[in-house]
Amino acid sequence: MNTCVVGLQWGDEGKGKVVDILAEKADVVVRYGGGANAGHTVIIGDTKFALHLMPSGAVREKTNCVIANGVVVDPGTLIDEINGLKEKNISLEGRLFISENAHMVLDYHKMEDQLREAALGKNKIGTTARGIGPCYADKTGRSYALRMADLLDLETLKEKLTKIIAYKDKLFGALYQADPINAEDIYNKCCEHSKVLSPFIANTTEYLHQSLDAGKNILFEGAQGALLDLDHGTFPFVTSSNASALGLGPGCGVPAQRVDRFIGVVKAYATRVGAGPFPSEQDNEIGDAIRIKGHEFGTTTGRPRRCGWFDAVAVSFTARLGGINEIAMMHLDTLAGHKEVKICKAYRINGKETTFFPGNAADVQAAECVYETLGGWDEDLSGVTTYDALPENTKKYIAAVEEIVGVPVTIIGVGPKRSQAIFRNQ
Ligand code: GDP
Ligand code: IMO
Ligand code: MG
Repeated sequence: MNTCVVGLQWGDEGKGKVVDILAEKADVVVRYGGGANAGHTVIIGDTKFALHLMPSGAVREKTNCVIANGVVVDPGTLIDEINGLKEKNISLEGRLFISENAHMVLDYHKMEDQLREAALGKNKIGTTARGIGPCYADKTGRSYALRMADLLDLETLKEKLTKIIAYKDKLFGALYQADPINAEDIYNKCCEHSKVLSPFIANTTEYLHQSLDAGKNILFEGAQGALLDLDHGTFPFVTSSNASALGLGPGCGVPAQRVDRFIGVVKAYATRVGAGPFPSEQDNEIGDAIRIKGHEFGTTTGRPRRCGWFDAVAVSFTARLGGINEIAMMHLDTLAGHKEVKICKAYRINGKETTFFPGNAADVQAAECVYETLGGWDEDLSGVTTYDALPENTKKYIAAVEEIVGVPVTIIGVGPKRSQAIFRNQ
């Protein structure tokens, strides 16, 4: 049984928690897209892990971990994560496979991300400043890109770096009057990174196909959320990869046909970090209440997340994009305490109603939500362990989402811990 877990909103839906739970039965967990812009939280007992590049399966010592070709790897961040896990007595030795073809995020990518955002001023995207866009741009541009395999040949890497940094220096100097890049420092860091990471660099496509042929259970861990998808999200307020389930094939070389379950993770409401349209946003006391109760502050950047009602127009769209068979709805506990709860079931754009998510950000920006209003609940759900024990209004809320989106909700989150999840129809 192979499973793919993806976010159906704007990221931070609780993918880390869902992957952690499902990883109990997985032999291999695979990250196939994004980079250290991701922040996936896993809580085991009193220990909290915030994973950025490492698949969430890393916390289970019997699970193999793959960082596939579609991921952009910041080697320094990855080594920090490996060391952080080591400090908690979790070793990755012999079970971490990093694609030789994954592109490397280096300091000049992070510099460019920050310089570009600063230059955009009030029009900035609100990126995580992790160098993601510039690295993927180098990947598609090809001539100035470096991949993990380059860490295996440091002489050639030096030559390539010299050429790349000369180019970047001219560019950043002309466009942003930036200080020169410290080429020596970057090269020296690469030499250090090479020592630590070389043993893990592999042909992950071959490894994954061998694992498939051997009948292993593989769990694919999406990063970001489908509304941040480069091609299908609210461009340009998106990330630079195919963050929907569509990114799976190119991101790791495994076709979607080999995946049995596509689980879309959502929050019982909606959040977004960074700029961009958000029709159901509640920039008021409702949004504030959700932010406080749900601790809605970024795992990677600590920024407060924008909060709003559940947008079923957006989620119906991303569920279709991803061929989603099941929904995992997190944070139902957080939605407690409202007299009424709302679900956006249609958009009104320039006086016309639609239930299909628009293809451009301007229309999403112009959209006014048409809401279905339901009764709220006050009960503390954090100790509820069965679906039947949920309050009637919570069940009605779940049923309304299932009805509009057309996909069953099979996993329900009632708290951040591993144990705070309810499974239905299993
Ligand atoms: P990811 O990026 O999709 O893995 O999500 P993040 O880890 O960035 O953000 C999700 C946050 O919600 C984390 O702090 C989780 O610990 C927390 N969380 C996950 N599921 C639940 C839930 O059902 N209820 C509550 N209260 N918190 C949850
Ligand atoms: P996880 O995997 C939430 C957002 C940023 C910004 C936009 C572009 O934890 O769900 P980038 O740095 O990628 O160029 O930023 O995308 N973003 C995320 N928001 N969760 C994430 O990852 C995100 N990764 C990127 O806030 O709006
Ligand atoms: Mg996150």
